[in-house]
Amino acid sequence: MSHRLGFETQDEEHTGESLPVSGSLPDWLVGRLIRNGPGQFEAGETELRHWFDPLAMLRAFRIDGRTDSVTYTNRFVRSEDFEYARQEGGVRRMLPGTPPDRPVWTRLRHSLSGAFQDNPSIGVANFGNTVTAITESPVGVRVAADGLETTGRRDLTTGLDADFTLGHPHYDPDREVFVNLAVSYGRGATYTLFERDPQTTAVEPICELPFDDAPYAHSFALTDEFAVLAAIPYGLDTTQLLTGALSGGTFVDAVTSFEDGIGGETETRDARFVVVDRETGEVRREVPADPFFVYHHANAYRDGDDLLVDMVAYDDERAMTRLTVSNLASDDPDVPAGDFVRYRVPLDDGRATYETLYEGQVEFPTFDYPTRLGESYRYCYLAANADGSSLPTRLVKYDLREGSTTTWTPEGEGYPGEPLFEAAPGADGEDTGVIVTTVLDADAERTDLVVLDARDMTERARAMGVHRLPYGFHGQFYRDGNRVRSMA
Ligand SMILES: [Fe+2]
Repeated sequence: MSHRLGFETQDEEHTGESLPVSGSLPDWLVGRLIRNGPGQFEAGETELRHWFDPLAMLRAFRIDGRTDSVTYTNRFVRSEDFEYARQEGGVRRMLPGTPPDRPVWTRLRHSLSGAFQDNPSIGVANFGNTVTAITESPVGVRVAADGLETTGRRDLTTGLDADFTLGHPHYDPDREVFVNLAVSYGRGATYTLFERDPQTTAVEPICELPFDDAPYAHSFALTDEFAVLAAIPYGLDTTQLLTGALSGGTFVDAVTSFEDGIGGETETRDARFVVVDRETGEVRREVPADPFFVYHHANAYRDGDDLLVDMVAYDDERAMTRLTVSNLASDDPDVPAGDFVRYRVPLDDGRATYETLYEGQVEFPTFDYPTRLGESYRYCYLAANADGSSLPTRLVKYDLREGSTTTWTPEGEGYPGEPLFEAAPGADGEDTGVIVTTVLDADAERTDLVVLDARDMTERARAMGVHRLPYGFHGQFYRDGNRVRSMA
């Protein structure tokens, strides 16, 4: 397996390179795919340890289906972390899994003042008509949509009593508002649910959710009525985080399971689905469930007196602690297995239960987000790993009604990224449209843009890339003249 190629630095930057296109793009597919992810796995001599640490690189594909043309631009985000790494040759502030290359007093000052990294490698959002690279950080870095040049910074916590905001804001296309969670750490943690005006970027807090512990949350579920936070029993030992700041420990080192003592034995606490009424800000119910870990939710919707909440769920916090670069890039990686599952969350009484819909390792669940968010839906798209690979080797279309799958596997050794669905105009079916993604072709050591027909998951067009990219995380397809985004 050549999955290690997905975890190696690419420091070339290209601007407006025209890519050769084979096959035929739909003529209605006109817009920009902007993806985010790791670019550089070192800061000076320091090897960045965890998958969430490498310096962020944006990759943009300008797609014009009318002329079957694709142009490519990629650029590092000029965050303060990036500039420090380039100029000083080290780590400026604690990255999720790598301690800073700074004197102990600087580290202490950072930890006491709540100073966070600003390396935004998770995804992008369109705040105030400006593409903004984001992560779990108080800062978003603004870039030009065309050339991806860094143009400024945005404090995402303005108007919120919080340390940072999550990297997976929802965009509610009906109310035309972003909905997200902000996090404040103390001895435990407080999550603030808030809305953000997409134009002015002003925020309006909806409610505060205080926790005695500090559950980790990467994303959450949204319907018209409810926001649903999965308060998992895995998260930060905040005392360890503080002492770790002095001793060289990191955020990932401080991730733990929350346990209760029962008769001399300890047991991991229940997870809880915290169901918040978006209109009143009141907690409708906290619904217990057996322990699980989650990064990514797919869709959620109401089914009678229950909520159905679909996600990729893992057993425990090893879903994070095992994602070290050395493990992932090794010949025999020990990869945590996340399954695509459906939780049934009762709004009246009882515990949440789940069924496994598709066994993993899978990740990056997506669907027809602008049309189906918060409503019943039929198709979910996933990136699925073969055994022994730390990266996805195929894309799976899962039919929730039939329980059936349609799979696309790249020729040769290829690692496809997050599948983004884009509906055809006037679509007559939920899968009438395309999947837009990038594929790391390990044989050619090149990353291509690939467009699949979403109905049968066959390849319809490919733009041959100019170089290899490290495997990326999330992106958005922004169709021209349409701000509605393609995923959470
Ligand atoms: Fe994510």
